[in-house]
Amino acid sequence: MLAAPFFLSFFWVLGFVTAAPSWTSSPLEPASIPLAVRSPYSQAWLAGGHALSESWPTFWTGGPFSWAGYARVDGVAYRTMGLAGIEGAEVAQQTSVSVNASSTHFVLIAGGVELLYTFVSPVEPTDLAKQSLPLSYMSVTARAVDGRAHEVQVYADISAEWVSGDVQKTANWSLEKTADGRVLAHKVQLANEELFTEVDDRIEHGSAYLATTQSASLTFAQGADIDTRKDFVANGRLSGLLDTNFRAISDNWPVFAFASSLGSVAATGVQAPPFVLALGHIRDPVVQYVTKAGMQTRSPLWMTKWGSALDAISAFLGDYDQALAAAGTLDARISRDGINGASDNYASLLRLSLRQALATFELTVSKKADGSLDATDILAFMKEVSSNGNMNTVDVIFPFWPLVLYANPALGKYLLEPIFKYQSTGLYPNKYAVHDLGAHYPNATGHNDGQDEPMPLEESGNMIVMALSYAQRTGDKSQIQQYSALLAQWTQFLISNALVPASQISTDDFAGALGNQTNLAVKGIIGIAAMGEIMKLNGDSARADTYTSFAKDYVTRFRALATSRDKSHLKLSYGDDASWGLVYNLYADKLLGLNLFPQDLYDTQTAWYKTKMDNFGIALDTRHSYTKSDWQIWTAAIADDDLKGALVDAVLRYAGTSDINSGAPLSDWYDAKNGSTVGFRARPVVGGHFAVLGLQKDMSLSGDSSSAGGSTTGGTGGSGTDDGTDGDGLDLNGDGAAASLSASRNLAAALVLCAVGSLVYL
Ligand SMILES: *[C@@H]1O[C@H](CO)[C@@H](O)[C@H](O)[C@H]1NC(C)=O
Ligand SMILES: *[C@@H]1O[C@H](CO)[C@@H](O)[C@H](O)[C@H]1NC(C)=O
Ligand SMILES: *[C@@H]1O[C@H](CO)[C@@H](O)[C@H](O)[C@H]1NC(C)=O
Ligand SMILES: *[C@@H]1O[C@H](CO)[C@@H](O)[C@H](O)[C@H]1NC(C)=O
Ligand SMILES: *[C@@H]1O[C@H](CO)[C@@H](O)[C@H](O)[C@H]1NC(C)=O
Repeated sequence: MLAAPFFLSFFWVLGFVTAAPSWTSSPLEPASIPLAVRSPYSQAWLAGGHALSESWPTFWTGGPFSWAGYARVDGVAYRTMGLAGIEGAEVAQQTSVSVNASSTHFVLIAGGVELLYTFVSPVEPTDLAKQSLPLSYMSVTARAVDGRAHEVQVYADISAEWVSGDVQKTANWSLEKTADGRVLAHKVQLANEELFTEVDDRIEHGSAYLATTQSASLTFAQGADIDTRKDFVANGRLSGLLDTNFRAISDNWPVFAFASSLGSVAATGVQAPPFVLALGHIRDPVVQYVTKAGMQTRSPLWMTKWGSALDAISAFLGDYDQALAAAGTLDARISRDGINGASDNYASLLRLSLRQALATFELTVSKKADGSLDATDILAFMKEVSSNGNMNTVDVIFPFWPLVLYANPALGKYLLEPIFKYQSTGLYPNKYAVHDLGAHYPNATGHNDGQDEPMPLEESGNMIVMALSYAQRTGDKSQIQQYSALLAQWTQFLISNALVPASQISTDDFAGALGNQTNLAVKGIIGIAAMGEIMKLNGDSARADTYTSFAKDYVTRFRALATSRDKSHLKLSYGDDASWGLVYNLYADKLLGLNLFPQDLYDTQTAWYKTKMDNFGIALDTRHSYTKSDWQIWTAAIADDDLKGALVDAVLRYAGTSDINSGAPLSDWYDAKNGSTVGFRARPVVGGHFAVLGLQKDMSLSGDSSSAGGSTTGGTGGSGTDDGTDGDGLDLNGDGAAASLSASRNLAAALVLCAVGSLVYL
């Protein structure tokens, strides 16, 4: 490592002259880097282009909150996380960050050591208890890079900003210990919690935890931010002060801190054992849900496995080595599947999308009459993050659906079930499928007045398609049997309304209402055909044939209405020959194996799209230059390899490089010409980026998908297709993309360096 000090001094100079980051980013460089991203309320991100040691983490909204880190190396203190200026602390210099599928890794230089910060947000879709526990890991270790031994202590704290969107509110806190004394946890909440209430998208109910395992060198404190951090900077340990002057979050900012010694970091460069912390935001109940008998409050599913938050945290901390290994295996798996599906770039896009998408819903159970939890009554609730906070929006679950199929189809059943159940109560007055279960998370209070955002064709088609998809993928027919009357009612609506769609909005509601939308007609017709398959599975071949022949007849008539005069493409709406758009709903035809629309239609569309490619992809339709990342990947999944590759590259060009200064978690809505974000961030629909893998039946992480129903482990993950994902001698890490991106970053840095170098040294 001779070169390191040389480079560092250059980058150090650079830091004063230009804002260009001096570290490598692999395998991509997003506008916001996930640190701890597990649930709608357990989210911490770092604005891209900023070092871990020079920026506050933020909630997905961009609102900063305090999560600070320091390290002392041979008595010299360095800030490693956050932006607080504490006298006597230098700033550790970041040299690299890698954003993997469920983990993010930073390397920082401090004195003669490299500090390695690892953030793991476990992705456990086949273990529902683990998946539903909104905790993340932070671990810190060090290794000598100068051939000498070093004494290293590390520190981390969080503030009470984690528990409210309003820093004027009063918090209170405690230090908790498990019965066996093995685990210590700071626990903080509002003194006056408000159930199911949000301020700026934060939940005003529940507790934030920062926890770690007891050890001889562990120290802790609860106190004012400056005093607590100063204490560590000066002494490398904490006083054990427990400040019980409960006060406003912003009143001398109480923080909750742990410090530990990594011991002597050996001259050999071997990593010291890590200091591991768990953190997250936990609450019970999580949602309220409308039933015929009134509002039901529901608990987080993990409580069926662990009796208390402390028990869950203790198990979580004990699981760190396994979780880190699983993160590595998952990353290799995503890399392999991404490359098989399209390319290295595709793997990078999936890495960036996975945690974000899976952090948008919560798995819940109800309570029985005797107060115990009913582990068999599993319902999932999803937040339409950032666009409006709606609950279980059907046309948001729909684009997310390919990730359901890839991760674990059982999740799909649990997301659809609350919608089926609600509409079966008869409380919803409209004949078509409801848009969502409630105007704002976490209130699934329904729309008994029928005044939900009206997307009748969209949602009716979506529900039927997803219900069939789940049954096909798992062999579990219980949902399509139980709700066959409701499905038939929606199909009837499609038969009357799908071929010549009235003026209405589609899922892309921001584009406004339009009559005769080709893409909506496609969805409706596929919905009718899907109902034919459902009836076949339900053993009613007479009705199956009726639905199928309706759908086939509609396809012929649809083509006459929707095809442009020169037959080069499908129009956006029937009356407008010059119009066109992404007809992404055709994806469902392939997904369900219906082959309702003939291949020549797909080929025509593919050829047409190839003439419409802009810098960052293809516009959603002729009304605007903006596009959607999810619908482009849906389109890519049913196109030929050339278009597929080009669309993936275009979306990654946006996701990985274009809007770096926004600091926002990945958006799905941006301008296809210039790559600027139009709106939205951190939404579940990036699960749609898995569309290519969604079509591949044997790909699911849950392996043996036929066991997906009912159990809290949601699939055995057994001996099926997910064997052999790790080290089999192949390069599974997608380093091709990593290398080229970090190479271009290095090149850019080197160019700046030359310019700066001449300035400085002339
Ligand atoms: C926090 O305040 C609530 C409401 O006053 C109270 O029930 C709870 O015991 C307090 N917790 C602590 C740790 O003081
Ligand atoms: C949820 O409903 C409760 C009333 O039950 C209300 O106080 C709260 O503000 C609602 N939350 C949101 C986020 O709309
Ligand atoms: C994270 O990604 C980097 C770059 O792709 C890779 O070298 C590393 O092995 C990955 N680590 C884990 C734990 O997945
Ligand atoms: C849709 O197209 C039909 C047939 O061309 C036409 O009669 C109808 O007015 C159009 N509807 C709308 C809302 O544009
Ligand atoms: C990108 O194009 C959109 C739409 O034309 C425009 O509103 C936006 O300002 C452009 N962004 C940049 C950075 O030029």
